[in-house]
Amino acid sequence: MAPFDLKEEILRLKEKRNAIILAHSYQTGDIQDMADYVGDSLGLAYKAQNTDCDVIAFCGVHFMAETAKILNPDKTVILPDADAGCSLEASCDAGELEAFLKENAHKNYYVVAYVNCSIGVKALADVIVTSGNAVKIVSQAPEDRPILFVPDQNLGAWVSRQLGRPLELWNGACHVHMEFTRDQILALKEKHPGVPVVAHPECTEAVRLLADHICSTEKMIPYCTENPAKSFIIVTESGILHRLRKLVPGKEFIPAPTEQCSCSTCPYMKMNTLEKLYLALRDLSPAVELPKDLRRRAEAPLLRMLEQSQ
Ligand code: 13P
Ligand code: SF4
Repeated sequence: MAPFDLKEEILRLKEKRNAIILAHSYQTGDIQDMADYVGDSLGLAYKAQNTDCDVIAFCGVHFMAETAKILNPDKTVILPDADAGCSLEASCDAGELEAFLKENAHKNYYVVAYVNCSIGVKALADVIVTSGNAVKIVSQAPEDRPILFVPDQNLGAWVSRQLGRPLELWNGACHVHMEFTRDQILALKEKHPGVPVVAHPECTEAVRLLADHICSTEKMIPYCTENPAKSFIIVTESGILHRLRKLVPGKEFIPAPTEQCSCSTCPYMKMNTLEKLYLALRDLSPAVELPKDLRRRAEAPLLRMLEQSQ
């Protein structure tokens, strides 16, 4: 009997299921290399919206697969590990947000939700943003209403500063990006003088202030391609290094360390494996299922984002 080749089996099942494999930039290199498309949350949402495949195999965290399902209620959306959550999503409970909005109904908030949130939170939002389009989307918010930005206080503060418009911020954060500290980045800058620092907007302000460029994972690729520098300090989850090294050859990418580790890893993103992807394609499980009414309510702000982001 021919030996079992995991990658070949994944490709065979992909064909059989008429599936597309989507992967976030924080996935492991072997998963990224199997994917039909690798990107940031925004690119992945567009791909999910426009695919004509029957099955979307989503290699990312749960809220990303959920977003694909909101946009594709009639397709099967599977993710390799159903427990791949997100600490930022967990920092905003839909019930708590609903109670807050009720209590403050007189303020008539325009609610902007970062896509890293649950379907319940999306359903309460006026518009969704990703890190790749947050400034553009918030700049289109009604001027006569106060904005409540949930759940990421760091992304919200960065957007507020970019636009010079005050935003009320939910007290949420990504535990992975919160681990980067100003002292560690300063030490790395000292070790590599003149090397540009590229950071994700989920980092704290103390870290953002040290960055030469702040952007979503996807936008790091053109920035590092077009910038004449030969080395870059990258302040985000380590999965992006695989893409940067592949797509921007001949340049050096230095991961920013955290207290615990020489680079930063998102434990949720790393729950997915090729083996689990194979099993998900074989069994069409775990699949994302959503309550009809909630899906419909979450779809409206998501579609508003995709329209306004063009
Ligand atoms: P992107 O919007 O850059 O894909 O980032 C998503 C994310 O989860 C960052 O932690
Ligand atoms: Fe969530 Fe942070 Fe992981 Fe991104 S890096 S998926 S925000 S926990």
